[in-house]
Amino acid sequence: MGRGWGLFVGLLGVVWLLCPAHGEERQPETAAQRCFCQVSGYLDDCTCDVETIDKFNNYRLFPRLQKLLESDYFRYYKVNLKKPCPFWNDINQCGRRDCAVKPCHSDEVPDGIKSASYKYSEEANHIEECEQAERLGAVDASLSEETQKAVLQWTKHDDSSDSFCEVDDIQSPDAEYVDLLLNPERYTGYKGPDAWRIWSVIYEENCFKPQTIQRPLNPLASGQGKSKENTFYSWLEGLCVEKRAFYRLISGLHASINVHLSARYLLQDTWLEKKWGHNITEFQQRFDGILTEGEGPRRLKNLYFLYLIELRALSKVLPFFERPDFQLFTGNKAQDAENKVLLLEILHEIKSFPLHFDENSFFAGDKNEAHKLKEDFRLHFRNISRIMDCVGCFKCRLWGKLQTQGLGTALKILFSEKLIANMPESGPSYEFQLTRQEIVSLFNAFGRISTSVRELENFRHLLQDVH
Ligand SMILES: *[C@@H]1O[C@H](CO)[C@@H](O)[C@H](O)[C@H]1NC(C)=O
Ligand SMILES: *[C@@H]1O[C@H](CO)[C@@H](O)[C@H](O)[C@H]1NC(C)=O
Repeated sequence: MGRGWGLFVGLLGVVWLLCPAHGEERQPETAAQRCFCQVSGYLDDCTCDVETIDKFNNYRLFPRLQKLLESDYFRYYKVNLKKPCPFWNDINQCGRRDCAVKPCHSDEVPDGIKSASYKYSEEANHIEECEQAERLGAVDASLSEETQKAVLQWTKHDDSSDSFCEVDDIQSPDAEYVDLLLNPERYTGYKGPDAWRIWSVIYEENCFKPQTIQRPLNPLASGQGKSKENTFYSWLEGLCVEKRAFYRLISGLHASINVHLSARYLLQDTWLEKKWGHNITEFQQRFDGILTEGEGPRRLKNLYFLYLIELRALSKVLPFFERPDFQLFTGNKAQDAENKVLLLEILHEIKSFPLHFDENSFFAGDKNEAHKLKEDFRLHFRNISRIMDCVGCFKCRLWGKLQTQGLGTALKILFSEKLIANMPESGPSYEFQLTRQEIVSLFNAFGRISTSVRELENFRHLLQDVH
């Protein structure tokens, strides 16, 4: 793994040094400034700055990546959405897999409540919300028969290997292919305590954080105060760089998901049409520096941090995909070859991006320590992937699982840099393998982060004239 850590080290200075604007300075005037003022400029000892990343991503990478992700190879992802949550079983009504069946099944709702006056009863309102969340959160699993046959063959090209995620048993009868294009990640109505709980468990119990240290703005914690925030950040600063990086990756993932939900908010929902689009209020509530007591801009910086980590993993894994034996196999030879060309083009583009990090490994001198840390990372990360089975809303669960698997795959790559670099050019690679599931999740997860970075530009424009 060695040099993989150079990246973490190089990036860690990034986060708090971007913009000196803290409390006592003049308040930024527009909403755009309040969200983005601190998210600009040079990323410390990396020669790239946020603006360079934006330009690179939005104009060079994003369009090609979108095209790749629309191909058959990348659009079908097999997932078991029916796994029980291993940690608790009182998943909130709206959250429950069969939410509509129990508290929301219309047959069970007395007619009186369903009549016109029902909107005024709190219970009925809840039912309505539930049905809405259920409808929006449902996953469309329809696949054509032809596709079903084709995907049967794909599994033959899978090899299992050491993984950072608790991977679904994709042979299980409960595992199904879903078409990611038919199930875009967007606002589902899944929020509030149920969603907070998921993130809370992830941050509180799985990010190396002791219980005595409270996370700022944790909606489930009582009695927040400035002093707690300070304790949290001094705790974070006291961690070794890798564990700090772990926290930032999770925060970046959280931020990215929230950017999507704000960018594809259900703005209008009538029988005539559903309209999805940008909701700047929602965005501000999550990222405005003042409304979030400074947390918002930090979250956005963590999003860039996550972007750079995944970018780094992609640039390192190039030799794996370059081998002549490797195919993006779907059975359509011409299309498969074309996709591989596009994939390599994207990876070369990424490799050319000047991520000038300090390449010296933090753990170069201590093999045991590095090994232990890798194991630690793996255990924590696997746990997070299991928590995804506790996400109530189906669609959120789908994208949660996919994105954690993608990030897990990126980490696996970063921890295997040497193996990849020494990979034989042809013939089987026994030391390092990626399954189709890992490949699909890696690129789709990166596609999500790339979309988030692109969306930030949109929000910057939308917030420009808002005060
Ligand atoms: C895994 O997650 C559960 C639930 O949050 C937690 O109780 C447990 O301590 C976690 N284990 C590790 C190794 O993080
Ligand atoms: C935007 O989001 C806020 C909550 O953040 C919500 O109250 C508002 O209704 C949303 N606007 C639209 C047009 O849906």
